[in-house]
Amino acid sequence: MEKRALRYEGKAKKVYETADPNLLVVEYKDDATAFNAQKRGTIAGKGAVNNAVTSRLYPLLAEQGVPNHFVRQLSEREQLVQAVNIVPLEVVVRNVAAGSFAKRLGIEEGQLLSRPITELYYKSDALGDPLVNADTALSLGWASEAEIAEILRLAQRVNQVLQAFFATRRVQLVDFKLEFGVNAREQLLLADEISPDTCRFWDMDSGERLDKDRFRRDLGQVEEAYQEMLQRVLS
Ligand code: TMP
Ligand code: ASP
Repeated sequence: MEKRALRYEGKAKKVYETADPNLLVVEYKDDATAFNAQKRGTIAGKGAVNNAVTSRLYPLLAEQGVPNHFVRQLSEREQLVQAVNIVPLEVVVRNVAAGSFAKRLGIEEGQLLSRPITELYYKSDALGDPLVNADTALSLGWASEAEIAEILRLAQRVNQVLQAFFATRRVQLVDFKLEFGVNAREQLLLADEISPDTCRFWDMDSGERLDKDRFRRDLGQVEEAYQEMLQRVLS
């Protein structure tokens, strides 16, 4: 599938049009940002890892009842996806207190949550992705009631599938961020990547962090963590 015009360039990916208006090529970059792009850097090999990890997880999710935009992997850094209009929400699911949740509520990182928590954030770089609730999304017309209900249901399903998948690889799925979109046939689909950029992965035995927190927090061994997650996902 030949790439045509660049439609969009984000912090970690470029999206190209193709001859088919319903299909896009996503190209994964090694660029990394954190804290709303206040911190910038490069993680060598990240684009290839995130493409490979996403390309492994999306077919599994489709088999397990989570419709998604993924069509196929095209190359080391490229994948073909269905074009969708992204719902402007970042949907975060948490199993363990960490990151902004731990900070906001004064809870120590690592505390197991008695049940998974789903949070919604408004996708707006200008506002720093503020926390919102379902009423806000409905009232401001970002999604319909049926779409919100389906998003929350699918987020739980993704959590079940991925927790089980990573547990067999001795990785604890601490939390992750999802995005959803609507295609030309008005179908709600899971979209965007699922990778060490968008999940917290802790080694179940050592507690070692195997995700982008190594970059965000200057923990070192960043490239090694991405390669380790690639090996585990492919194993
Ligand atoms: P948080 O604890 O910083 O709110 O992050 C929760 C999860 O969401 C974590 O797995 C990292 C992911 N995430 C993104 O994918 N993009 C973002 O911009 C942020 C802030 C977090
Ligand atoms: N990628 C996001 C940014 O630069 C944040 C993050 O993943 O921590 O804002």
